[in-house]
Amino acid sequence: MKELILVTGGTGYIGSHTVVELIEAGYQVVIVDNLSNSEAKVVDGIEKITGVRPPLEVCDCSDFDAFKTVFDKYHTISAAIHFAASKAVGESVEKPLDYYRNNLLSLINMLKLLSANNGKGFVFSSSCTVYGQPDVLPVTEQAPIKPAMSPYGNTKQICEEIIRDATHAGLSFKSIILRYFNPIGAHPSAEIGELPLGVPQNLIPYVTQTAAGIRAKLKIFGNDYNTPDGSCVRDYINVVDLAKAHVIAVKRLIEAKSSDKIETFNLGTGRGLSVLEIVKSFEKATGVKLNYEIVGRREGDIEQVWANPDYANQVLGWKATSTVEETLLSAWRWQEKLATR
Ligand code: UD1
Repeated sequence: MKELILVTGGTGYIGSHTVVELIEAGYQVVIVDNLSNSEAKVVDGIEKITGVRPPLEVCDCSDFDAFKTVFDKYHTISAAIHFAASKAVGESVEKPLDYYRNNLLSLINMLKLLSANNGKGFVFSSSCTVYGQPDVLPVTEQAPIKPAMSPYGNTKQICEEIIRDATHAGLSFKSIILRYFNPIGAHPSAEIGELPLGVPQNLIPYVTQTAAGIRAKLKIFGNDYNTPDGSCVRDYINVVDLAKAHVIAVKRLIEAKSSDKIETFNLGTGRGLSVLEIVKSFEKATGVKLNYEIVGRREGDIEQVWANPDYANQVLGWKATSTVEETLLSAWRWQEKLATR
């Protein structure tokens, strides 16, 4: 029988790509999402790619009773991947209580319910934001956790601590914490991708919307950083590569391949690219010229961060393999597809 995997936030950006990879790897999936930042028709895209339509339970994970009914309905859940969370850095500064409430409560409910249902494994979506501006680059999992720059970042740090404390107190399952660098791109089929609501805050959706003429100009936040070309440097990772790491993590947990109760992995490419390099790569990959201007720094941005992904490469046998050009092209194909919807 196929193992059943619960994916919260499964209609979201990284969640939907992960659902596709799980199905293609032979898992059965149930999606839980409150659709606060995604659409139910994402499931159509998943079905088009995989030929399987996973059930979508519209439910808020911060509502314990509602979330419990999902566990009661699908009582054979083997493992869970918890993507469901609020993730806009700027919004979290304006609405810290909403962020703490949603992100912490959802995780707490998840851990309680998965443990009560004898789940075998738990995968948590964390972020490189926990490292702040690292003293040493590329950053390894051993780098110190720095004070968070935003309530959003703080929720990721606190969530990691909650998982550690709850594990210590005796959860039924082992956990894998995945620290994502900057996920970008879309499924090569262009059936699923990122769906930013309103004006995009993240770089790539702003780039593709500018290229499509929806935004007049891309603003590049600062060219006076201590980096080779003065713009900020990040580790941009293809979302399908990222999704595949989740499948490996789930398999590792279900097959109890490690004796560690918690493992933490960086998911990045190991390569840092500047904002200006991204602009050039986008133009090269798509042949579309981008209108952009350099403006002042954005508050809260760190100068540069990229991953040392050796631990994930060696232990998980996983590696990000897509080139940045093909990834940016996939983001552009998705943008073109959105224009026809
Ligand atoms: C941030 C968070 C990260 C979170 C992610 C998702 C931090 C340090 N990082 O990543 O944890 O998971 O958002 O929301 O809090 N840029 C422009 N013009 C734009 C948009 C962005 O120049 O219009 C630049 C930024 O200054 C930055 C780079 O592009 O240097 C990437 O920005 P963005 O895509 O927003 O991601 P991060 O801020 O790195």
